[in-house]
Amino acid sequence: MSFAVAIDGPAAAGKGTISRAVAAHFGLAHLDTGLLYRAVGAKVLEGAEAVEAAEELRAEDLKAGNLRTAEVAQAASKVAVIPEVRAALVDFQRAFARRDGGAVLDGRDIGTVICPDAEVKIFVTASPEVRAKRRFLELQAAAGVMSLDEVLADVLARDARDRDRATAPMKPAEGSLILDTSEMTIGEAVAAATKAIAARR
Ligand code: DC
Repeated sequence: MSFAVAIDGPAAAGKGTISRAVAAHFGLAHLDTGLLYRAVGAKVLEGAEAVEAAEELRAEDLKAGNLRTAEVAQAASKVAVIPEVRAALVDFQRAFARRDGGAVLDGRDIGTVICPDAEVKIFVTASPEVRAKRRFLELQAAAGVMSLDEVLADVLARDARDRDRATAPMKPAEGSLILDTSEMTIGEAVAAATKAIAARR
């Protein structure tokens, strides 16, 4: 039986951490859909054409070592504006969402476009300053060289592009639980998401 959990929200709001935790807790498969766009963005940085890269994307491409960099994140956000790129990635995501045993997908348009009939929809957010600080600490850990101000500018630019695009813009899906994690610990945020999912299981 399928059971889809859609978790959307802006960069560094905590959706990845929450998604992995609830997937493990409920024994659901997890797909970080940002990785699809990051893999396409990485290929474009290497000189590929975006739509072709999306159409030819393979599972191995999601394992590339450079997908978590700030440069690839911006490239991902840019290719994500192109309707043909998004269209090329829809079937894979929809099939994943409805796989037997249930699935958690996190991204920007899971509850609005990919799986509007998801059993649970959560929109995870936090203030830009809190998200920039989190991303800054992550990048530092990976030997990043950006300042906190640069990371904040990066986060704001990506928010604007993801939110203002014409196709599948980032926004809370109808009926979603809004989870603002600005003042929450990871444990509290995971507990809130777990409770919302348990109520529908
Ligand atoms: O979640 P992330 O930061 O890894 O996503 C990288 C970019 O990919 C994000 O800025 C916009 C795009 N994206 C998207 O448009 N739709 C999704 N479902 C997931 C990501």
